Amino acid sequence: MPVSPSSFDLKRILRPNILRLEPYRCARDDYSEGILLDANENSYGPAFKAEIRGASGGSGADVQISAGADGLDLHRYPDPLGRDVKQRILALRPGVPSIDNVFLGVGSDEVIDMLVRVTCTPGKDKILITPPTYGMYKVVASVNDVGVVKVPLIVDDGSFQLDAGAVIEAAVGDPAVKIVWLCSPGNPTGTRLRAEDVRRVLDSRFAGLVVVDEAYVDFVRAERGGSFAGLVAEYPGLVVMQTMSKSFGLAGIRLGVGIASSELVGYLNNAKAPYNVSTLSLSVAREALSDDGLHKMRQVTQSLAAQRDGYLIPELKRLAHVGAILGGNDANFVLCRLVDSEGRASNELAKGVYTEMAEKRGLVVRFRGLDAGCEGCLRITVGTAAENAAVVATLRALLAAIP
Ligand SMILES: Cc1ncc(COP(=O)(O)O)c(C=O)c1O
Repeated sequence: MPVSPSSFDLKRILRPNILRLEPYRCARDDYSEGILLDANENSYGPAFKAEIRGASGGSGADVQISAGADGLDLHRYPDPLGRDVKQRILALRPGVPSIDNVFLGVGSDEVIDMLVRVTCTPGKDKILITPPTYGMYKVVASVNDVGVVKVPLIVDDGSFQLDAGAVIEAAVGDPAVKIVWLCSPGNPTGTRLRAEDVRRVLDSRFAGLVVVDEAYVDFVRAERGGSFAGLVAEYPGLVVMQTMSKSFGLAGIRLGVGIASSELVGYLNNAKAPYNVSTLSLSVAREALSDDGLHKMRQVTQSLAAQRDGYLIPELKRLAHVGAILGGNDANFVLCRLVDSEGRASNELAKGVYTEMAEKRGLVVRFRGLDAGCEGCLRITVGTAAENAAVVATLRALLAAIP
């Protein structure tokens, strides 16, 4: 398959020290069977048998793990590459060629950090982000002393689509930019980016990585299209990030996924801590990615979308001082703009309501009024039916009291 752009050269994007890196190797990389006395584990097994029972909130299933008793082998280090979990990810994301195209991190937050660390030389290189967007890209850049170029999404019409021309111009025009970070569906926008805009960036002369963060991809309405993960064979500069934290309801296990060329995944594996993802997380993820697990995930995302589209959005729109619901609503949250009596977006009102709800009503949403194009906005996660009813009733009471 021809790759695009044909001049793409990963070695020009990676930091010289990463190209030279001699990765940590353990004996288990070569031999994993027999009497294992190579890794200074405790051959006597776990010192106690822990039973972890999670009667989860919401409508989810219970999680039950019996450590030590059921073959989890917690006295052993985990598979450094989480191969069986990766195999199941291939079934979930058609078009991803092999498990060698999949990187596992401690949440996608670790994937973000690893991508910056293998590509950007501190004090020299930059990433490009498209505000309003997920806050960790900027935080990770700051921690790594990496610059941030900002090209805002198109905010005027509240659609939050990509200004592809401006992104390409800024990225191509600044050779220090190593990564363009796109978020689709966006946070806090909920907008799935148009495929043709993402393709334009991928097909441009930009020679760095284009990361598409798809944390919320499973909430996208089918007619708007699915994941970009299947394009990694075509575009060696493309990285697609996903997570078990959202649609799978497993934020607590901290498992994030980076799908990319096998060459890039190889360098990420070389640079990561050898056993970054725990046996417990891998074990839960394996179950969640089974046929049964995927079926349940799809049922939950459908119920959630029904709550979002059939209850939360229409009810919010009916409230006094709710000016608009912004963005594409393709995620498990809605972005709700509060307006004053003149119909103007009001941060004062949104901040006041947010604080009152959190401090006096025990209901925590997110104030996002300071993000580009989000003046007066609260971001409200879609909860259970009872939680959604509570947030609507609380907002109704608070907003009705405002002149
Ligand atoms: C767009 C986006 N990417 C990544 C993350 C982080 O996900 P994880 O829990 O996998 O670290 C979040 C979390 O809210 C997010 O909104």
